[in-house]
Amino acid sequence: MTTSSSISPTAYATGYFWFRHGLSTEALVTPQGRRLGRAFGLLDRAITLGSGVSLDAMMLARHRGIDELLTRAIDSGRVQQVIEIAAGLSPRGWSFSKRYGNAITYIETDLPAMAATKAGMLQNAGLLSPQHRVATLDALADSGPNSLAAIAATLNPNLGTAIITEGLMNYLDPAAAQGVWRRIGTTLAGFRHGVYLADIYPQKRVITPALVVLGLLLTVFVRGRMHLHFNTEAEAIARMQASGFSKVEVHAPANLESTRSLGRTKGGNRVRVLEAST
Ligand SMILES: C[S@@+](CC[C@H](N)C(=O)[O-])C[C@H]1O[C@@H](n2cnc3c(N)ncnc32)[C@H](O)[C@@H]1O
Repeated sequence: MTTSSSISPTAYATGYFWFRHGLSTEALVTPQGRRLGRAFGLLDRAITLGSGVSLDAMMLARHRGIDELLTRAIDSGRVQQVIEIAAGLSPRGWSFSKRYGNAITYIETDLPAMAATKAGMLQNAGLLSPQHRVATLDALADSGPNSLAAIAATLNPNLGTAIITEGLMNYLDPAAAQGVWRRIGTTLAGFRHGVYLADIYPQKRVITPALVVLGLLLTVFVRGRMHLHFNTEAEAIARMQASGFSKVEVHAPANLESTRSLGRTKGGNRVRVLEAST
C-alpha cells in the first residue's frame, strides 16, 4: 500500500526536524511534518523540563555523528556505495549525493508507502539520478524483492559499502533487531569492505519518576514501545561481533569533531554512534 496514511508519524516529524535545523531541503518538507514538528517541539520541552534531557540535542548528535563517520569512510576511499535502511524523510541521501556526485551510489530505502512518497518528492524536485535512488526495503524481510539481500545485489560487490540505520532499531523488539543486525552483517560480508553505522543508546535501566514520564510520552508519540537493546557499550560491541563484524567502535559525540559540544549536553551525551566493519 502506498497511501500516506500508512507512513509512521515519527518519519514526518523527524523529516521536518532536520529541515528546521538547517540540515535538509524544502523538497522534503511536508504539511504533516510541520504539524507534527510542533508537537515534537512541545514534547521535547516537556521532557527537558522534567528530566533535563534534550531530545533535540540527542537527535542532532546522532545525525551529525553518523554524517561525520560516513564522510570519513568515503573520503578515506573505504566506501563508494551506501544503502540507508528506514531513511524516512532524512536528508542524508540528498546531501551526500549533492556533495559527492557520481563518486558514490546512494540507495535510500524504506517501507513501501514512505519509499514511494520520498521517491515522488525527490523526483518532482529533480533530485534523483541513477547514482541516487529510492527503493522499497523491509528490514525484517529475509528474502524476496524487498529484502536487503535483493537491494544489495544491485550494487557492485567489488566496491566498499556502508549500510546505515538511524532511528529504527529502538522500535524493534530484541528478536527482530537481532535479525536485522544479522542480515546487515551477512550482506556487508559480500562486499570488498563493509561498514555499518547506527545510533545506539547503551544505558543501564535506571527508573526515576522523570524517566517513567519520558518513556510514557515517547510511547504515545511513537505509538509503540521503545527498546534500548544494550546496557553497556561492551554489550553492543559483543552483539555486533556475533553478527559478523570484525572491528566494532562505539563513538561518543563528545569525541567526534562535529558533535563535540552537543556531546557535553544532557541528551547529546545519551547517544553513541556505532561503527561496525566487516
Ligand atoms: C523515526 S523514522 C526515522 C527516519 C530517518 N531514519 C530519520 O532519522 O529521519 C523511522 C522509519 O523507519 C521506517 N521503518 C519502520 N519499520 C521498518 C522496516 N521493517 N523496514 C524498513 N523501514 C522501516 C519507517 O517507515 C520510518 O520511516
